[in-house]
Amino acid sequence: MANMVGGIDGTAAAGGRVAALSTPLDAELFTRLRSFADVILVGAETVRRERYGPVRLAPELVDARTHAGRGLPRIAIVSRSLELAADLPVFDVEHPPIVFTCRTSDTSRLDGIPAEIVIAGDVDVDLAAVIDILADRSMQTVLCEGGPTLLGDLIGRDLLDEYLLTITPIVGGDDIPIIRNRTNAELRRFHLQQVLEDDGTLFMRYTRRSET
Ligand SMILES: NC(=O)c1ccc[n+]([C@@H]2O[C@H](COP(=O)([O-])OP(=O)(O)OC[C@H]3O[C@@H](n4cnc5c(N)ncnc54)[C@H](OP(=O)(O)O)[C@@H]3O)[C@@H](O)[C@H]2O)c1
Repeated sequence: MANMVGGIDGTAAAGGRVAALSTPLDAELFTRLRSFADVILVGAETVRRERYGPVRLAPELVDARTHAGRGLPRIAIVSRSLELAADLPVFDVEHPPIVFTCRTSDTSRLDGIPAEIVIAGDVDVDLAAVIDILADRSMQTVLCEGGPTLLGDLIGRDLLDEYLLTITPIVGGDDIPIIRNRTNAELRRFHLQQVLEDDGTLFMRYTRRSET
């Protein structure tokens, strides 16, 4: 599944960050969804701009997971360039992220950094292979938190089952769409399952319709 927030003009960031588009309830949804996930899949640019760190959950959510025999969800980053600075908070020794990259990438860029490098694909990260590798490790519930490029690629490969979209009544910000499609991307139809509203902000849940 994927979770994104945007303005009513479809922008996905303001000043290079998502915070200004979010609301307290959206932030709560963000955390709740994390508590369902086995792994959080995120594009490298989002990790760089948002300075991603390891997953932190409220104690009651941690307890619920512990009761179910589950640890905290892991972060999995998708990157071709591997231009990921060693001081990014996501590189936590106790919770090292997985970094999915491709065969042509220079993995020495991450030498000495606490991360598990996994090769999936030749010149692009093969996202279908990523999902298979995660499933082989019993990480079935994959939550993609963007960004727009990674999400566009996931949908392009028809790998998204469920899409949670928050629309805040804001216009402006960066010229970054919520989903960045590759040119001539195939049309994919989704089915609207639920709409909730809070103070002008819409929370929508879509599932993929497999016939198109
Ligand atoms: N509104 C929201 O809900 C939301 C959510 C997340 C992010 N954002 C915003 O989105 C902006 C970033 O957008 P973005 O689209 O540039 O970010 P992105 O999707 O997070 O990152 C793009 C990068 O991910 C890697 N990547 C993605 N797919 C790949 C593939 N198939 N193979 C190899 N590498 C792949 C590449 O990394 P390398 O460059 O390392 O090769 C690529 O440059 C930020 O401003 C952030 O705040 C908004």
